[in-house]
Amino acid sequence: MTRTMAVLNLALRGSPFSQKIISICLCCVIALWGCSSESNHYSAFQPGQLWLDNNDVHINAHGGGILFHEGVYYWFGEHKIEDRKGNAAWVGVHVYSSKDLYNWHDEGIALSVVKDDTTHDIREGCVLERPKVIYNEKTGTFVMWFHLEFKGTRYRTARSGVAVADHVTGPYTYLRSFRPNAGFWPKNIKEQQKQVPSQYRDYDYSGGSLPDDPEKLNLIARDYTGGQMARDQTLFVDDDGSAYHLYASEENSTLHISKLTDDYLSCSGEYVRIFEGRFMEAPAIFKHDGIYYFIGSGCTGWAPNAARSAKAESIWGPWQELGNPCIGEDAELTFHSQSTFIVPVPGKEGLFIFMADRWRPENAIDGRYIWLPILFRNDRIEIEWLDEWDLRFFDHF
Ligand code: GAL
Repeated sequence: MTRTMAVLNLALRGSPFSQKIISICLCCVIALWGCSSESNHYSAFQPGQLWLDNNDVHINAHGGGILFHEGVYYWFGEHKIEDRKGNAAWVGVHVYSSKDLYNWHDEGIALSVVKDDTTHDIREGCVLERPKVIYNEKTGTFVMWFHLEFKGTRYRTARSGVAVADHVTGPYTYLRSFRPNAGFWPKNIKEQQKQVPSQYRDYDYSGGSLPDDPEKLNLIARDYTGGQMARDQTLFVDDDGSAYHLYASEENSTLHISKLTDDYLSCSGEYVRIFEGRFMEAPAIFKHDGIYYFIGSGCTGWAPNAARSAKAESIWGPWQELGNPCIGEDAELTFHSQSTFIVPVPGKEGLFIFMADRWRPENAIDGRYIWLPILFRNDRIEIEWLDEWDLRFFDHF
């Protein structure tokens, strides 16, 4: 520092011309210094710690997912507000970009909630959760799906919302919302499931708990005409370009996997029910060596529970449950978090990162991110806690 001061002193004592040149050089050095500290912030993941973006602000992209596009990762997630309880959306979907998965640049709000239209589906105060974005090669369009609850409906809306953009970071244009697969039976429906038992025909479920074993209620039949309930959700693009929508349906009791139309904007009507009556949510999916793997959670709201996992040779099933993939201390609480996405690491065959939220309902903006490596061991997938790690971790496998 003393040496720097001495150089500065010398420079300022020189001719006005040399003073000008030196000031310009100094400005450049300071600017470059600023940039390099921005892009060299992190060289490791620190699960559960504050994770600062290029502006030194904790990343605000909860219930999120990652899109890898043209050499850049984009992280989309729910933008939360300081000191707001509950889960209402007051801003929209936030997007960040990164070239290395450690350092994230704030790209702003990809999809905004609507402020001045009290009739709009995504007006301020609605619930807009777990946004995921995929890219459609055929149409050159970025397509976002999310779980939508109209304002004030206390999770009774259970719809899927769709928005599109020509540019990856948006702005995304809201298209519509709906309950998926109206008028279609799932591929694995049994004939006896097509009728709602007479005693449940007019039953109001808004109290939360179901009056009987979900498999006896035939909720799939109740919602056949209006479309199936869709809450926690994710998207997945398979090797052949077909895209799938996974959503917690039938009062959260059963998950659906539904193929999207070729433009990714609608449901194709082709779908299956999986994990019937198992009450799974927070779905995340990936494919490795031709096998599909699933990670999700039980349904306990913000409170963490033990994760679930499963695998299948076809996306349509049968899905074989593999139990809780987490091992070690706090595994029964998924290390105090809930799954949201699985990031395949491009260029590194067989490497996948489990991405989860450590929710902070009392101050949602302070929610933390848990990113951990997925290990293929003992004929299943396993996730172990690490205080800090980087992608070289995978070099050992
Ligand atoms: C969880 C769900 C979250 C959020 C939360 C609100 O079950 O996975 O996305 O909806 O409930 O209670």
